[in-house]
Amino acid sequence: MHVAHLSLTDFRSYDTVDLGLEPGVTAFVGPNGQGKTNLVEALGYVATQSSHRVATDAPLVRHGASRAIVRSVVVRDDRRALVELEINPGRANRARLNRSPMSRPRDVIGLLRTVLFAPEDLALVKGDPSERRRFLDDLLVARAPRFAGVRADYDRVLKQRGALLRTAAQARRGSRSGRRAENDAGFAAAGAGDVLSTLEVWDAHLARQGAELLAARLELVEALRPLVAAAYASLAPGSAPASLEYRGTLSTGGDGVSPEGVSPDDVPPAPGSTAGVSTAGGQATEEQPARGPVGESANGRDAGARSVMAEHGTAGRGTTARPAAAQGTAAHKAHPAADRDTQSAAGQSAHPAVGQDAHPAAGQSVVDRGAIEQALRAALLEVRSAELERGVTLVGPHRDDLFLGLGELPARGYASHGESWSFALALRLAAYELLRADGGDPVLILDDVFAELDTQRRRRLAEFVSSAEQVLITAAVPGDVPTELAGAWFDVAEGSVTRVR
Ligand SMILES: Nc1ncnc2c1ncn2[C@@H]1O[C@H](COP(=O)(O)OP(=O)(O)OP(=O)(O)O)[C@@H](O)[C@H]1O
Ligand SMILES: [Mg+2]
Repeated sequence: MHVAHLSLTDFRSYDTVDLGLEPGVTAFVGPNGQGKTNLVEALGYVATQSSHRVATDAPLVRHGASRAIVRSVVVRDDRRALVELEINPGRANRARLNRSPMSRPRDVIGLLRTVLFAPEDLALVKGDPSERRRFLDDLLVARAPRFAGVRADYDRVLKQRGALLRTAAQARRGSRSGRRAENDAGFAAAGAGDVLSTLEVWDAHLARQGAELLAARLELVEALRPLVAAAYASLAPGSAPASLEYRGTLSTGGDGVSPEGVSPDDVPPAPGSTAGVSTAGGQATEEQPARGPVGESANGRDAGARSVMAEHGTAGRGTTARPAAAQGTAAHKAHPAADRDTQSAAGQSAHPAVGQDAHPAAGQSVVDRGAIEQALRAALLEVRSAELERGVTLVGPHRDDLFLGLGELPARGYASHGESWSFALALRLAAYELLRADGGDPVLILDDVFAELDTQRRRRLAEFVSSAEQVLITAAVPGDVPTELAGAWFDVAEGSVTRVR
């Protein structure tokens, strides 16, 4: 597919801009701060209805304006679609497809598919688990737009369950301090029963939505694994192999919460464990407001999700308390052969519901969604008293992480700057390959990427992108656009975008 036209009104620094585009390579070149990234960010927004740079929509609207409009003509197999988005921060966004209003803006997600490489991608490797969850979930949505709904539903359930838990936690705290005896009585008598039975209902919702998301992520990681390894090997020949492993709160049984309900904060990481690697400060993501029209609190870049997975020391060295919830879950029972959640990082799934032997030759995984749902419900029961204590949902895909390994070591915290860059690129290239395989070439966007790469990596990336149907490149310096990628050329300066070639 390719974009034939992009027009912006009050988007970022632009009051209006109108661009005709064509397949092949197009470069946007100009000094810093002139609006190059703003252009490609707008296209990314058409594809995902979120920005790769900010978690909320407000900065996308030109300062002083009240709404932004992004229009694009997307051409796929000779069919043209006009996608129009009106971005209304603080209010509902609106979408039109071929001039017909859509009842839900997210219904136009997926009409344009992009893979965007940007300096921010370094956070995929170095950043919080929320960055990697977002990578996975964005890719799920790009492959199957209905996952925008699954993700939004999961976030909604998480938020509502979180509100209930917080109410319960407050009531408990009030009762314990003795300051609010009436709350105590209320919670202990009628209130407690109500809370628990309401919680049962939310548990069921959470497990159902969570299992759908989790199953999809697990299958996705299986599909990505060989592609990422190959892309990394091609970008950095001779380097240690790159590996992926999905690390879930489910397989670690309650996210470091011990059977006694001790919070992870109270448990020092074991020597040799990866706690320091997979832990990020902050509150559970359900505490965060949903972002963007598709609601992404389970993935928010700013969410700072805590994801303590100390049991996953590489090669099983982690030794912190193993919670009871990890034992004998439905998913474990369903896949007894896969009960090895302290295995080494190299190319193996840590998840109990993805059997090591479940995807024999064709790289097809068998993920048992029903087993995951049961396991989630069981795990929620196990951590219930800790949840009631802390007022947050402690188990579920909103607290999981995608572990990235380089040889024996985690990439995060160990890889060099260049290695981290290569890993981030490998993740994007793998995403590109996957999307290309199941629905034609997505539009490839390279925002300021070449400047970060050494000669060899530049050449490899240039080779790769020369086969894509449409590639949009931004660069501050003309020399940063590889000569082998000659194509259309726009100068971007002082708010105007001028075609010069
Ligand atoms: N909502 C907004 N309203 C007005 N101006 C904005 C808004 N958001 C960003 N800008 C301006 O847009 C400019 C940044 O544009 P952009 O990020 O596209 O630059 P760039 O050409 O990619 O620069 P670099 O080469 O440094 O990456 C900044 O000058 C910034 O002040
Ligand atoms: Mg830029």
